[in-house]
Amino acid sequence: MRAWPTGRLAYGGDYNPEQWPRAIWRADVDLMHRAGVSFVTLGVFSWSWLEPHKGEYEFGWLDDVMDLMAEADIAVDLATATASPPPWLTTAYPDILPRTADGVIMWPGSRQSWCPSSPIFADASRALVTQLAQRYHSHPALAMWHISNEYACHNLPCYCDTCAAAFRTWLQNRYGTTDALNHAWGTAFWSQRYTDFEQVLPPRRTPTFHNPTQVLDYHRFGSDTLLGLYRGERTILADLSPGVPVTTNFMTMTGFRLLDYNQWAPEQDVVSTDHYRVAALPNATAELSFQGAVTRGLAGGAPWLLMEHSTSAVNWQPVNPAKPLGGTIHDSLTHVANGADTIGYFQWRASRAGAEKWHSALVPHAGADSARFAEVCRLGAAAAALGEVAGSRVEAAVAILYDFQALWAASGPAMPSAAADYPEMAQAVHKSLRDMGITADVVHPSADLSRYRVIVVPTLYLVTDEHAAAIAAAAEAGAQVLVTYFSGISDEHDHIRLGGYPGAFRELLGVRVEEFNPLLDGDEVGLLAAGPGRSNEAGAAATGADTAGADVGTGRRWSEWCAVTDAAPLWTYAGGPCAGSVALARRHTGSGAAWYLGTLPDEAALANVLASITEAAGVGPVVAELPVGVEAIRRRAADGRSWVFLLNHTDDPITVPLSGFDVLTGAVTDGHAALTAGGVAVLREE
Ligand code: GLA
Ligand code: ZN
Repeated sequence: MRAWPTGRLAYGGDYNPEQWPRAIWRADVDLMHRAGVSFVTLGVFSWSWLEPHKGEYEFGWLDDVMDLMAEADIAVDLATATASPPPWLTTAYPDILPRTADGVIMWPGSRQSWCPSSPIFADASRALVTQLAQRYHSHPALAMWHISNEYACHNLPCYCDTCAAAFRTWLQNRYGTTDALNHAWGTAFWSQRYTDFEQVLPPRRTPTFHNPTQVLDYHRFGSDTLLGLYRGERTILADLSPGVPVTTNFMTMTGFRLLDYNQWAPEQDVVSTDHYRVAALPNATAELSFQGAVTRGLAGGAPWLLMEHSTSAVNWQPVNPAKPLGGTIHDSLTHVANGADTIGYFQWRASRAGAEKWHSALVPHAGADSARFAEVCRLGAAAAALGEVAGSRVEAAVAILYDFQALWAASGPAMPSAAADYPEMAQAVHKSLRDMGITADVVHPSADLSRYRVIVVPTLYLVTDEHAAAIAAAAEAGAQVLVTYFSGISDEHDHIRLGGYPGAFRELLGVRVEEFNPLLDGDEVGLLAAGPGRSNEAGAAATGADTAGADVGTGRRWSEWCAVTDAAPLWTYAGGPCAGSVALARRHTGSGAAWYLGTLPDEAALANVLASITEAAGVGPVVAELPVGVEAIRRRAADGRSWVFLLNHTDDPITVPLSGFDVLTGAVTDGHAALTAGGVAVLREE
């Protein structure tokens, strides 16, 4: 075994040599050296090549590739190859195949066609992992183990009979009795009372809305089940290959919501993730940075590993635009700015055949004699130059709280508004702060909140008593806490907290909401500055307006009948059914304050609120007078050295008024850091 590359940011990607004749392998190594590649992930989808028949293994080709990598001084992140079962396995044991909510079998012929609860799949995969660990545990190329691949990407949820049985066992462990289950699920309604666990089913296709707590528990069960499989493999590796770090690649991307990564993260030796840009998303660069912050939060602030992203186009959207030249470097360094210490891609060489032949790669179809490969080589040089940054951590004084369980509950069936999406609010806040030059972490409510001066609680619909108390305590202890609409509404069983919304935060915020009035898509409501409230602070002045009654912007998505009980009203709704109700309020508590925002304000209005809050907290931007379209993030090493990443997210060159040593060019910027269109500078501060 060997250590993960140091002295430079590790750089590389998935290597699938079984797609190519051996003559190409040699050429690959030469090109990897040219590009500065220092690691590859091997074997992610190699099961049928490693075990072509049950119990008959063919490791010769992998031995050769491993030896080649050792010789070439390229570290191997060796996959356990269990992501996709071989045809012999699913043919012999068709029960392995997962089923949809309609009972339709998801057949082989693609990938990941296995049921998460299948004991046969678990046994077969563990047999393979055991072989791999025994064979390669001390191989000089081995630097990391990569368990499975993107758990849940295609096969969760599965609704088969095996899952139904496993779900019943899981529920029995969680609730003990059917009475407790009935209470948690609220089965007194719609005649759903269970008298035996045997009657319980996964939330398969039903005539109308499912029981929401059943759906929530099925999410929890699915995430736990896959985590169990992960642990099974990890235990084998810990026994047979001790000392080699273990990871599995998360998917911190918009749209992927199936695993509670907060429970998975502590079980990783290093948190790794995959991120792909979705062309149709507005604010793509903000999404990129937000997901970097999510991953950093999962890593507890420690450097993380960007296992996969793409040099250019993907192939799984309806239309797959290429990245502009320069975009490869821009995107990867945005991840590095957010705390990644490894830059990885899917995949090394673009396939000729198979389902991903139209996915970009480090070596494109055009070959090494291409503009993209030249950029890949430039990125390799940048990864080498950025070695000094490795190990440093991103500085942030703001936390945005993010909880997958709250997300599951908020996107449950039959809600006040299907459009009131948790990530939407979290990302709007993150982007607004980013545009001001302020870096925000994205962390779970159980994180140590004392590190933060501003804490944003965006649409945290479901919250436990414990987390609500931690948030209130943080305000008491001096933080500025912003809670947004539809937060603190239900408990861990998704039972509504009664007596007025937002139940869990009513006291902290000093507001009481009697009814919601979610807004239809496209509808807006005007917002006005409020007059002086209970305390003698002028509401208007707190959010950028001079006078009470002044127009402060518009809200969308949500409005509600909200009254202050113990807070200063800052904004009210100008019209609509909730006219005159409070849209923004603030309550001082301890040495901090709690703010409540009842709508999704337009960009300028949101920026005003966040400016007031960060100012009250004494939190300023990383770079003063940051030009529009540039993002600035600071990473700091344990010894005090620091670097500012300047990311130009526009198509025009921009100069930033900042001095430092530009690590990428070796030049000293004398108060004029010049960024090319889409360019990045990394300035070491003196
Ligand atoms: C995921 C998978 C890869 C590949 C890429 C394509 O990240 O892990 O194997 O399919 O998607 O974008
Ligand atoms: Zn199943």
